[in-house]
Amino acid sequence: MTETQVFKIASIPADGVGKEVVAAGRKVLDTVAAQSDGKFAFDWTEFPWGSEYYAKHGVMMDAEGLEVLKAFDAIYFGAVGWENVPDHISLWGLRLNITQNFDQWANIRPVKFLPGVQSPLRKADNTELDWVVVRENSEGEYAGLGGRNLSGRGPGNEVALQTALFTEKGCERIIRFAFDLARTRTVKKVSSVTKSNAQQYGMVLWDEVFDRVALDYPDVETESVLVDAMSAKFILRPEDLSVVVASNLNADILSDLGSALAGSLGLAASANLNPERRFPSMFEPVHGSAPDIAGKGISNPIGAIASAALMLDHFGLHDEARRIEAAIESATGSGHLTRDIGGTANTDEVTEAIVAALNASLATV
Ligand SMILES: NC(=O)c1ccc[n+]([C@@H]2O[C@H](COP(=O)([O-])OP(=O)(O)OC[C@H]3O[C@@H](n4cnc5c(N)ncnc54)[C@H](O)[C@@H]3O)[C@@H](O)[C@H]2O)c1
Repeated sequence: MTETQVFKIASIPADGVGKEVVAAGRKVLDTVAAQSDGKFAFDWTEFPWGSEYYAKHGVMMDAEGLEVLKAFDAIYFGAVGWENVPDHISLWGLRLNITQNFDQWANIRPVKFLPGVQSPLRKADNTELDWVVVRENSEGEYAGLGGRNLSGRGPGNEVALQTALFTEKGCERIIRFAFDLARTRTVKKVSSVTKSNAQQYGMVLWDEVFDRVALDYPDVETESVLVDAMSAKFILRPEDLSVVVASNLNADILSDLGSALAGSLGLAASANLNPERRFPSMFEPVHGSAPDIAGKGISNPIGAIASAALMLDHFGLHDEARRIEAAIESATGSGHLTRDIGGTANTDEVTEAIVAALNASLATV
């Protein structure tokens, strides 16, 4: 028998519903590992970082945290943000600290329409819709460059600069990533999104790189769309989309719109990849800590569980990833829905339905 492949996973549930959905995702991953007949297993280490940790220690994560995380094969993340810490401090102190320092420059956010989940789009009832947002995750509007000054001039006189950074290398690597991804999909098309009519430096550079890279992929259809027009297109012509590539801020907003169209923010999965594998990649639901529902056990675990499937893809376990996706579809298709998507089930019940579907699919093999 071949040796069991053990993946070392750092789990960081962090705040609010992050704790509930990471526990659900771990259960599903452990189920798939237990079914693998010794092919692979997960070795979990949980870290207590987040806003509670900040309340005790004055920092969002341990000073040695990044060094410690380097030893892991992947990071499984919940969500960060709570009322005791300003949002920009909690986000930069933990999540962005990891994505930036581990050069996780490709953020993949699939938009999936699930059986049994009603979309606010009437078109979704009888049209095949399936696209993926590829987000530049290391620079752009979230480069963290700028500053505040001149408050000494008295009330009302402070100034702030928030500078967006676009490098030719940064644009090229994410655009090539999008084209390579498009080649793996049924519809080979990349839509590039900018606001280059108004932002004439960084986003014009992006447009030019996009046109140049496209020449290397003559088999892939392309379009360049302004972000305002693309938000309308998400609603009016979503069947035209396959891979949508955009800068950090634009893709962040568009992917929330996509998940809302699919039925709920609670459904959306994401992978923060360091494609060169110099650092561990991080897998997390798109949603935040949802303080309005945290602690009630009613959060939707599907975004986190679908992110776990993306983690398996990253490990090359594609069949197992597809099994998790099929189990999610089986659970929603048979009416196991949390409240955000019109059901009455709680987090545990949906998770158990997904585990049961995994067990049932194994029984029929
Ligand atoms: N990646 C992250 O860690 C991340 C992302 C976004 C927001 N945040 C932080 O989260 C906190 C709350 O932010 P917000 O309210 O703008 O966004 P949010 O995503 O936490 O919540 C927005 C809405 O979606 C609902 N929702 C979110 N996840 C859900 C789930 N799994 N199941 C069911 N419903 C769900 C919430 O109940 C809420 O009504 C803030 O501190 C913010 O900074 C963190």
